[in-house]
Parts: sequence; C-alpha cells; structure tokens
Amino acid sequence: MTSAQETGGDVRLTGISKTYGSFTAVHPLDLTVPQGSFFALLGASGCGKTTTLRMIAGLEEPSSGTVHLGDQDVTALPPYKRPVNTVFQSYALFPHLDIFENVAFGLRRRGIKSVKNQVGDMLDLVQLGEQARKKPHQLSGGQQQRVAVARALINHPKVLLLDEPLGALDLKLRRQMQLELKRIQTEVGITFVHVTHDQEEAMTMADTVAVMNGGRVEQLGAPADLYENPRTTFVANFLGTSNFIEAEIQAGAARSGDDLVLKAGDCKLTLPAARCGGPATTGGKVLVGVRPEKISLTHADDAGQIPEGRNRITGRIADSSFIGVSTQYVVHSPVCPSFEVYAQNVERDTRLVPGAEVVLHWNPAHTFGLDAAQSLLAGTTGSAGVEKVEEDASA
Ligand SMILES: Nc1ncnc2c1ncn2[C@@H]1O[C@H](COP(=O)(O)OP(=O)(O)OP(=O)(O)O)[C@@H](O)[C@H]1O
Ligand SMILES: [Mg+2]
Repeated sequence: MTSAQETGGDVRLTGISKTYGSFTAVHPLDLTVPQGSFFALLGASGCGKTTTLRMIAGLEEPSSGTVHLGDQDVTALPPYKRPVNTVFQSYALFPHLDIFENVAFGLRRRGIKSVKNQVGDMLDLVQLGEQARKKPHQLSGGQQQRVAVARALINHPKVLLLDEPLGALDLKLRRQMQLELKRIQTEVGITFVHVTHDQEEAMTMADTVAVMNGGRVEQLGAPADLYENPRTTFVANFLGTSNFIEAEIQAGAARSGDDLVLKAGDCKLTLPAARCGGPATTGGKVLVGVRPEKISLTHADDAGQIPEGRNRITGRIADSSFIGVSTQYVVHSPVCPSFEVYAQNVERDTRLVPGAEVVLHWNPAHTFGLDAAQSLLAGTTGSAGVEKVEEDASA
C-alpha cells in the first residue's frame, strides 16, 4: 500500500514524561514509531504502557515533552482533533445498536448520510458481513473485539492505538485474534501501536517491540533481535527464559581471535566478543547467558562424543517434564543452580532421567554476555522477581 511507504507519518515522542505528584509513571522518553508499522509496547503491570498510549491519544497531558504525528505537533490538541483512534480492552460497544450501526457511528456523527458501502467494506475487512444486524450481546468476545476495531478504523485514523485489546479473551481465541489483527493491519497499512503484557503476543504481532520496565523503554527492536540479543537480564528473562552463569574473563588468555575466553568454576566458556555488551567487556566479570533450546544434553558416559569447540558444563538432572513437542529439563550444575534445557522430542535418550549425570553443551555463537552488576531475577514472572526489579529501579 502506497500510504505505508510514504515517510512523514511517523509517531514521534520527544522527551515525553508523566509524573503524578512525586511518582514518575513514565520517565522522559524518545520514541519513533515508523508509519505503517505494527509496534508493541510490552511490559509488566504498572510499567507505564497505558500512560504512554494515552499521551499519544491526547487523553493524558504529558508532564514534559512533545508528541508529533508526521510533521504536526499534536501535543496541545484534544483527542478528537488527533488523527488517532483507540481500542480498549473493554470494547464499549453500544448495546442497543446493532453491529452495522455500531460501526457506522463515527460516520453518522460526522454527518455522513450514505454509510452503507463504507460500513459494508469494514465489516468485510473484519469478516463480520453476515452479523451486521445482530446486537453486540449476540456475538462472541472475539467478534465483539473485531467490531471495536472496525468502528475505530472507519474513521480512517493515521494511527490505531490498542490497549490490551485481547485481554478479555481466552487463550485460544487470543491466538486467533492476534493473527487476525495482524492481517487487518497488513491490509489497511496504517500504524498500529499495541499495548500488551504478553510477550508471545508482542512477538507474534509486532514488527518492533519496545520492552518497558519501570517507566522506561529498556530495549527496542525486532522480536528475533530482542530474543537473541537481550542487553539486560530484565529483557532476557521477560522475553522467554534464559540461563545465566557468572563467569570471569581470564587474565592473559582473555581473547582468542574474535572470542572472549571465560572461566566459570572449572569450566572454560567461549563468548563471541561482539555479543558481549558494553561494560561487560571491561570489568573482569560477565554474566554468560544462553537460551534453553540452544543447549544439548548428553549422558556423561557419552561425553567423549561431543564435538570439539562447544561450550560445555557438567551437571545432574534434577527434574524433567515431558510436554509433547519437547522435554524440559532442570539440571543442577556447580556453575548454575538450575539450568533449564528444552530438548525437542525427536529421539529420546531413556537414560536422561532425574539423577543422571550429564554434559550440557552448545555452540558458543549462541552465547550472549551481559553486565554482571544486575539482578539475575529481573523480569522473571515470580513475584520475588518483580519485587527485585522495583528494588533495583529505586536503588
Ligand atoms: N491517575 C493516576 N494517578 C496516580 N498514579 C497513576 C495514575 N495513572 C497511572 N498511575 C500509575 O502509573 C503507573 C503506570 O500506570 P499504567 O496504567 O501506565 O501502567 P500499565 O503499564 O498500563 O499497567 P497494566 O498492564 O496494569 O495496565 C502505575 O504505577 C500506576 O499506578
Ligand atoms: Mg495498562
């Protein structure tokens, strides 16, 4: 679609912040959402997602900073004068109007008389053409949600803001609607800014994800990039699961070619220098991270068969859960108390049961390095982890 290729329709936040009394909900934030992109604001409850969205919509006055839509500074404009529409978690459809009239509402309010074709097109877009004469209570949650999207899109906004729009749906319908919303966005080509606390949802739908933590954007990027190259333990834990090993850069033998040579307990680990971020390379200590699905498990009796050049750690299986597509192991190791390993369920070694001595090994290219001066638990879902994050934020 040509409109998606034009430049100049970006959402640009510059130094935008929001304070309530002495509490800062959003710290000064610079953010550009490219025109036509599907952008997700992802983070735990209370991190400032809705506040950021409401400042874009004009429903919340920023304490500092500006909002631009394309070349236009809209900071001082009221919501109804911004080319922006919002879809909330509670769809707030008009219960007494049928689906057709719910979608037609924005057009009728602007005094447009012949609404039939436009409403028809919108209902087709969200695949509800057949339901036009039903009342909202006669539709499923997912269908009502699509009515809410159609009702917003009929106003031809430049930007559609979605605040946890799928929050009220059950898991299966949620997954379905994620693909559906993505299809609609691709078809209409306008900018979507989608707020969610569900990392899978953000990764499935968005071109770019901004991970928020304590009123700040902690990292921003394409889903695969955030997953493979997290820059903080918060991002590494919040997006999926990560294993961390505290390691030291070995004096003397610190570098071999483009790799850093690290020591963790008795183990020698290799980390590509390019994957070791910022201050981590300068200090002596590094947090070595590796994702559970990158690791192979070999029974200790077969350790001789592991190819040269792989990072390896010894341990003992503490727990294993068979979940169909994969088996998830927890391995106790001297360098990491509970290592998680996901093994695809292809050929299962029946010796890999709790109590077995094993070697964990992986391609060093899948190792990432983080600054050791941060909490290992940041971004974990347990309440302890979240409390830890807040402690860190206020420290
Ligand atoms: N009107 C207000 N007065 C005082 N504090 C507020 C107000 N609105 C929001 N906050 C605080 O600002 C912080 C961010 O709120 P926000 O609604 O943006 O979070 P969120 O990321 O959308 O969370 P959730 O996922 O729970 O919806 C929270 O700590 C909240 O309590
Ligand atoms: Mg919210």
